[in-house]
Amino acid sequence: MQQMPPRSSRPLAGQEIVQRLAEKGYQLEPAALEIICRYSGSKEELLQRIISSADRSVAVIGTSMVSYHLESSSFADAAPRSSSPIKSSSPSISTQPTISDPETQDSSAKLKCDITGRSTCIGDYNDFVHYFRDRFSKIREILSLRLNSRPIESLTKSTTGREVSLIGMVMDVKTTSKGNRVIELEDPTGMITAVIQKDSEVYEQSSLILTDEVIGVTGTSDGNGRLFVKSLLWPDMPNQTAPLENGNGSALLLSDLHIGSKYFMADAWQRFLQWLNGDTEDGSDLASQVRYIVIAGDLVDGIGIYPGQEKDLEIMDIYEQYKAAAQWLNGIRKDIQVIISPGNHDIVRQAEPQPALPEDVQSYFRKEMLFVGNPAQVTLSGISLLIYHGRSIDDLVLRLPGISYAAPEKAMIEMLRRRHLAPIYGSRISIAPEHEDHYVISRPPAILHCGHVHTVGIARYKGVAVINSGTWQSQTDFQKKMNIQPVPAVVPIVDLATMKIRKLIFAES
Ligand SMILES: [Fe+2]
Repeated sequence: MQQMPPRSSRPLAGQEIVQRLAEKGYQLEPAALEIICRYSGSKEELLQRIISSADRSVAVIGTSMVSYHLESSSFADAAPRSSSPIKSSSPSISTQPTISDPETQDSSAKLKCDITGRSTCIGDYNDFVHYFRDRFSKIREILSLRLNSRPIESLTKSTTGREVSLIGMVMDVKTTSKGNRVIELEDPTGMITAVIQKDSEVYEQSSLILTDEVIGVTGTSDGNGRLFVKSLLWPDMPNQTAPLENGNGSALLLSDLHIGSKYFMADAWQRFLQWLNGDTEDGSDLASQVRYIVIAGDLVDGIGIYPGQEKDLEIMDIYEQYKAAAQWLNGIRKDIQVIISPGNHDIVRQAEPQPALPEDVQSYFRKEMLFVGNPAQVTLSGISLLIYHGRSIDDLVLRLPGISYAAPEKAMIEMLRRRHLAPIYGSRISIAPEHEDHYVISRPPAILHCGHVHTVGIARYKGVAVINSGTWQSQTDFQKKMNIQPVPAVVPIVDLATMKIRKLIFAES
């Protein structure tokens, strides 16, 4: 009979992995087991790392936790790309061409995920079911790292008076005539009414609850379909983020150029190009370090986006607008990689997520530019960047206290806290019910970059650089009437080695 190798030197089998975790009091989700089994490095070390970091309240180890440890620095080299849970749950993730120069291959911008060529939606009932189930299960997995929850259907007479925790999607939030807050929560097993009394410690916090978001609640069950809430939990970013890889060079973040509009600031763009291309005496050191320019939507002003837009247009043909945009962008120094994502003024479907600009439009631009969807996850010399045009900021400004257009970074932080770029469904943005919810922030990015609101906002939240990149359009008549003050021709620059952020100002003083 062949002798078994010692436990520490042979690879762990699936059953053994499950047993090892069970001995420590943890269950393992089947998808998480699959990822561990596919991992080519030391499974023993990976398990030790998972066990030593798991919170006592965690009962089930899911794919997020396994992924976190696979992606942390000491495991990054050994982890095969296919072992990422995001990849495994998204079999059709497309990759777009990147710069092919072998010397710059490692540092070229790479598209990790977007909707381009992957839309599954025809808009029938089943699409909506898939979409919301995917949203629920992805965010539940994140919340499960910090909350030992039970299914709603398990709350019966036997749980009367007991403290229980649930994870549910918010179907409705109301304030009663007595001032209590009532939330209808749903999970795949049932619905429950969660009550937050006016004198509760979490009452003020409950004003931040949005419909369609997924939250955790802990409270006392009345055994009759009601839960009296004592604490609320949002998925949020992890307190301890994995150490960032050191990137190279710097990235300029832009959005909302609105080329084709009478209000596009051509002079300021010209000054920007002169600085970038080293045609000025000042700032050329900083300019020479720029390796990427990322544009988060509204490259052109478009046609028919709002009533009476023709009065604001200098170029009345959408293709001519893109040809003009190509001329302006093709003037950028050739060693800089430009990444272009669309917005609501661009020539792609209005329902989000939006695919990359069509190929006939792409053909106007230099061939090494990278066209991605909205939203899109990319990496810039290893630094992860999540690009989203930011239409959901309109909804967040309307619905959340303390959130305004003047400080768009606060709305973006609310996206991170909810691990979702557009938590409210069916308000001012049309979201196509794709089978996968592309708005869930499954992996914390190093940078979250939005635009849309034409104001600049910069913050840092739990290790994430949060940046809204303003505009290149001066104040329109409509904005004047609405008292909206844009912040044009200001460019946030991120040093990818240190993650320091500065603002460069190209507007005339
Ligand atoms: Fe926009």
